[in-house]
Amino acid sequence: MIALIRPTTDLHAAWLVMVREFHGAHIDGSGVMERSLEDLEGADAFAGWVAETTAHERGERVPPELVASTLRWVIDDREPTTVIGTISLRHELNDYLRRVGGHIGYAVRPTARGRGVATAALGLVQQECLDRGIDPVLITCRDDNVASARTIEHQGGALEEVEGGIRRSWISLSQR
Ligand SMILES: CC(C)(COP(=O)(O)OP(=O)(O)OC[C@H]1O[C@@H](n2cnc3c(N)ncnc32)[C@H](O)[C@@H]1OP(=O)(O)O)[C@@H](O)C(=O)NCCC(=O)NCCS
Repeated sequence: MIALIRPTTDLHAAWLVMVREFHGAHIDGSGVMERSLEDLEGADAFAGWVAETTAHERGERVPPELVASTLRWVIDDREPTTVIGTISLRHELNDYLRRVGGHIGYAVRPTARGRGVATAALGLVQQECLDRGIDPVLITCRDDNVASARTIEHQGGALEEVEGGIRRSWISLSQR
Protein backbone atom coordinates (compact mmCIF):
# COMPACT_ATOMS: atom_id res chain seq x y z
CA MET A 1 0.00 0.00 0.00
CA ILE A 2 1.23 3.48 -0.84
CA ALA A 3 1.79 5.83 2.08
CA LEU A 4 3.07 9.35 2.63
CA ILE A 5 5.68 10.01 5.30
CA ARG A 6 7.36 13.10 6.68
CA PRO A 7 10.91 13.68 5.49
CA THR A 8 13.31 12.06 7.92
CA THR A 9 17.09 11.86 8.24
CA ASP A 10 16.65 8.11 8.82
CA LEU A 11 16.00 7.71 5.09
CA HIS A 12 18.84 9.92 3.85
CA ALA A 13 20.50 7.13 1.85
CA ALA A 14 17.19 5.95 0.39
CA TRP A 15 16.24 9.51 -0.58
CA LEU A 16 19.56 9.94 -2.37
CA VAL A 17 18.99 6.71 -4.31
CA MET A 18 15.63 8.07 -5.48
CA VAL A 19 17.00 11.46 -6.41
CA ARG A 20 19.91 10.01 -8.38
CA GLU A 21 17.43 8.22 -10.64
CA PHE A 22 16.42 11.63 -11.99
CA HIS A 23 19.98 12.24 -13.27
CA GLY A 24 19.98 15.91 -12.31
CA ALA A 25 16.58 16.77 -13.82
CA HIS A 26 14.32 19.02 -11.77
CA ILE A 27 12.20 16.91 -9.41
CA ASP A 28 8.67 18.27 -9.06
CA GLY A 29 7.41 18.38 -5.51
CA SER A 30 10.78 17.53 -3.97
CA GLY A 31 11.31 20.80 -2.15
CA VAL A 32 14.94 20.76 -3.25
CA MET A 33 14.57 24.08 -5.10
CA GLU A 34 17.91 25.73 -5.78
CA ARG A 35 20.00 23.26 -3.78
CA SER A 36 22.30 20.88 -5.57
CA LEU A 37 22.22 17.16 -4.91
CA GLU A 38 25.88 17.37 -3.90
CA ASP A 39 24.91 19.80 -1.12
CA LEU A 40 22.44 17.30 0.28
CA GLU A 41 24.80 14.33 0.26
CA GLY A 42 26.33 15.46 3.53
CA ALA A 43 24.53 14.33 6.69
CA ASP A 44 24.61 17.76 8.33
CA ALA A 45 23.36 19.59 5.24
CA PHE A 46 20.62 17.02 4.78
CA ALA A 47 19.53 17.29 8.41
CA GLY A 48 19.44 21.07 8.03
CA TRP A 49 17.31 20.80 4.93
CA VAL A 50 14.88 18.34 6.57
CA ALA A 51 14.56 20.74 9.51
CA GLU A 52 13.92 23.57 7.07
CA THR A 53 11.13 21.66 5.33
CA THR A 54 9.54 21.03 8.73
CA ALA A 55 9.77 24.74 9.51
CA HIS A 56 8.18 25.59 6.15
CA GLU A 57 5.28 23.27 7.00
CA ARG A 58 4.70 25.37 10.15
CA GLY A 59 4.94 28.53 8.05
CA GLU A 60 8.32 29.43 9.55
CA ARG A 61 11.52 30.50 7.74
CA VAL A 62 9.65 30.68 4.43
CA PRO A 63 11.56 32.85 1.92
CA PRO A 64 9.47 35.77 0.60
CA GLU A 65 9.20 34.34 -2.91
CA LEU A 66 7.78 31.03 -1.59
CA VAL A 67 4.70 30.03 0.40
CA ALA A 68 4.42 27.61 3.33
CA SER A 69 4.26 24.00 2.17
CA THR A 70 3.99 20.43 3.37
CA LEU A 71 6.53 17.99 1.96
CA ARG A 72 5.91 14.26 2.06
CA TRP A 73 7.83 11.31 0.67
CA VAL A 74 6.01 8.45 -1.00
CA ILE A 75 6.73 4.91 0.11
CA ASP A 76 5.25 1.49 -0.49
CA ASP A 77 4.71 0.07 3.00
CA ARG A 78 5.89 -3.34 1.80
CA GLU A 79 9.31 -1.70 1.34
CA PRO A 80 9.28 1.08 3.92
CA THR A 81 12.98 1.88 3.64
CA THR A 82 12.74 2.78 -0.05
CA VAL A 83 11.61 6.23 -1.14
CA ILE A 84 9.68 6.01 -4.41
CA GLY A 85 8.36 9.51 -4.83
CA THR A 86 7.85 12.95 -3.42
CA ILE A 87 4.89 15.29 -3.16
CA SER A 88 4.54 18.84 -1.98
CA LEU A 89 1.39 20.72 -0.97
CA ARG A 90 1.60 24.49 -1.11
CA HIS A 91 -0.66 26.02 1.50
CA GLU A 92 -1.66 28.98 -0.66
CA LEU A 93 -1.22 30.27 -4.18
CA ASN A 94 1.03 33.15 -5.14
CA ASP A 95 1.01 34.57 -8.67
CA TYR A 96 3.43 31.97 -10.01
CA LEU A 97 1.58 29.05 -8.43
CA ARG A 98 -1.79 30.38 -9.64
CA ARG A 99 -0.50 30.54 -13.22
CA VAL A 100 1.97 27.66 -13.40
CA GLY A 101 2.72 25.57 -10.33
CA GLY A 102 -0.62 24.92 -8.65
CA HIS A 103 -1.13 23.72 -5.09
CA ILE A 104 0.57 20.35 -5.51
CA GLY A 105 3.75 19.12 -7.18
CA TYR A 106 4.82 15.47 -7.33
CA ALA A 107 7.24 13.08 -8.93
CA VAL A 108 7.71 9.33 -8.91
CA ARG A 109 11.13 7.78 -9.45
CA PRO A 110 11.44 6.31 -12.95
CA THR A 111 11.73 2.69 -11.75
CA ALA A 112 8.44 2.96 -9.81
CA ARG A 113 6.30 4.55 -12.52
CA GLY A 114 3.29 3.11 -14.28
CA ARG A 115 1.84 1.26 -11.30
CA GLY A 116 -0.45 3.84 -9.76
CA VAL A 117 1.98 5.45 -7.31
CA ALA A 118 1.32 9.06 -8.36
CA THR A 119 -2.44 8.51 -8.48
CA ALA A 120 -2.36 7.04 -4.96
CA ALA A 121 -0.12 9.81 -3.60
CA LEU A 122 -2.34 12.52 -5.08
CA GLY A 123 -5.31 10.82 -3.44
CA LEU A 124 -3.60 10.58 -0.05
CA VAL A 125 -2.47 14.20 0.07
CA GLN A 126 -6.07 15.35 -0.24
CA GLN A 127 -6.67 14.67 3.47
CA GLU A 128 -3.97 17.23 4.23
CA CYS A 129 -5.75 19.65 1.86
CA LEU A 130 -9.00 19.15 3.75
CA ASP A 131 -7.28 19.54 7.12
CA ARG A 132 -5.86 22.85 5.94
CA GLY A 133 -9.07 24.06 4.30
CA ILE A 134 -7.56 23.98 0.82
CA ASP A 135 -10.52 23.32 -1.46
CA PRO A 136 -10.73 23.44 -4.42
CA VAL A 137 -7.19 22.35 -5.19
CA LEU A 138 -5.38 23.67 -8.27
CA ILE A 139 -3.22 21.12 -10.07
CA THR A 140 -1.24 21.94 -13.15
CA CYS A 141 0.95 20.11 -15.58
CA ARG A 142 2.50 20.70 -18.95
CA ASP A 143 0.11 19.94 -21.76
CA ASP A 144 2.43 17.24 -23.11
CA ASN A 145 2.74 15.47 -19.75
CA VAL A 146 0.27 12.68 -20.47
CA ALA A 147 1.07 10.69 -17.33
CA SER A 148 0.49 13.66 -15.03
CA ALA A 149 -2.68 14.71 -16.88
CA ARG A 150 -4.02 11.17 -16.44
CA THR A 151 -3.04 11.19 -12.75
CA ILE A 152 -4.99 14.42 -12.24
CA GLU A 153 -8.00 13.05 -14.12
CA HIS A 154 -7.94 9.89 -12.01
CA GLN A 155 -8.27 12.06 -8.92
CA GLY A 156 -11.24 13.96 -10.29
CA GLY A 157 -9.44 16.99 -11.65
CA ALA A 158 -11.67 19.12 -13.88
CA LEU A 159 -9.76 20.88 -16.64
CA GLU A 160 -10.28 24.65 -16.51
CA GLU A 161 -7.98 25.73 -19.33
CA VAL A 162 -4.81 25.07 -21.24
CA GLU A 163 -2.76 28.22 -21.53
CA GLY A 164 0.85 28.72 -22.50
CA GLY A 165 1.31 24.95 -22.65
CA ILE A 166 0.06 24.51 -19.06
CA ARG A 167 -3.03 22.48 -18.18
CA ARG A 168 -4.82 23.95 -15.17
CA SER A 169 -7.27 21.65 -13.39
CA TRP A 170 -9.20 21.89 -10.15
CA ILE A 171 -10.10 19.10 -7.77
CA SER A 172 -13.15 19.97 -5.71
CA LEU A 173 -12.97 18.03 -2.46
CA SER A 174 -16.22 19.19 -0.89
CA GLN A 175 -18.19 17.84 -3.83
CA ARG A 176 -17.02 14.26 -3.29
C1 LIG B 1 3.77 12.08 -13.80
C2 LIG B 1 4.25 10.98 -12.89
C3 LIG B 1 4.30 11.52 -11.45
C4 LIG B 1 3.27 9.80 -12.96
O1 LIG B 1 3.67 8.83 -12.00
P1 LIG B 1 3.17 7.31 -12.05
O2 LIG B 1 3.30 6.76 -10.68
O3 LIG B 1 3.84 6.60 -13.15
O4 LIG B 1 1.63 7.52 -12.42
P2 LIG B 1 0.49 6.40 -12.32
O5 LIG B 1 1.12 5.05 -12.35
O6 LIG B 1 -0.38 6.77 -11.16
O7 LIG B 1 -0.25 6.58 -13.71
C5 LIG B 1 -1.17 7.58 -13.94
C6 LIG B 1 -1.67 7.47 -15.35
O8 LIG B 1 -0.65 7.90 -16.26
C7 LIG B 1 -0.44 6.90 -17.25
N1 LIG B 1 0.96 6.91 -17.61
C8 LIG B 1 2.01 6.62 -16.81
N2 LIG B 1 3.14 6.78 -17.52
C9 LIG B 1 2.78 7.14 -18.76
C10 LIG B 1 3.49 7.46 -19.95
N3 LIG B 1 4.83 7.43 -19.96
N4 LIG B 1 2.79 7.80 -21.05
C11 LIG B 1 1.46 7.86 -21.01
N5 LIG B 1 0.72 7.59 -19.92
C12 LIG B 1 1.38 7.23 -18.82
C13 LIG B 1 -0.82 5.62 -16.57
O9 LIG B 1 -1.08 4.63 -17.51
C14 LIG B 1 -2.02 6.06 -15.78
O10 LIG B 1 -3.14 6.17 -16.59
P3 LIG B 1 -4.16 4.95 -16.80
O11 LIG B 1 -4.53 4.50 -15.42
O12 LIG B 1 -5.26 5.56 -17.55
O13 LIG B 1 -3.42 3.91 -17.53
C15 LIG B 1 5.67 10.47 -13.28
O14 LIG B 1 5.66 10.14 -14.65
C16 LIG B 1 6.76 11.49 -13.02
O15 LIG B 1 7.31 11.53 -11.91
N6 LIG B 1 7.09 12.30 -14.02
C17 LIG B 1 8.09 13.36 -13.83
C18 LIG B 1 7.62 14.44 -12.87
C19 LIG B 1 6.29 15.00 -13.29
O16 LIG B 1 5.99 15.13 -14.47
N7 LIG B 1 5.51 15.37 -12.26
C20 LIG B 1 4.22 16.01 -12.47
C21 LIG B 1 4.43 17.46 -12.64
S1 LIG B 1 2.90 18.28 -12.90
